[in-house]
Amino acid sequence: MSIYSELILDHYQHPRNFGKIDRPTKTAKVSNPLCGDEVELCVKIAKGKVVEAKFKGKGCAISIASSSMLTQYIKNKSELELKNLDKEFMIKMLGIELGVNRIKCALLPLEALKKL
Ligand code: FES
Repeated sequence: MSIYSELILDHYQHPRNFGKIDRPTKTAKVSNPLCGDEVELCVKIAKGKVVEAKFKGKGCAISIASSSMLTQYIKNKSELELKNLDKEFMIKMLGIELGVNRIKCALLPLEALKKL
């Protein structure tokens, strides 16, 4: 049996919002120093709200699923709401137990978000 939930596998195999936005408002790229995997996040903001969010990158199932889920979540959120997202939120969103190394994978898109 897989250690990942079906939801994570689904987001990994069919990542939502994968790609780039034409003329994004902000872009940030981060990498996981443990494995070299990368996530690039870009958003379009209008009137203080995220109207579009996309990501690109290469990574493990957790980092891709986490990026996919996060880009879905942040649409229509205000910049203030983005600031309030934290590690606990990410863990809850993924809904699985994560070890020390896997936490880094899960937090990669959040790290990119904080750099925007
Ligand atoms: Fe590289 Fe997960 S193993 S981000």
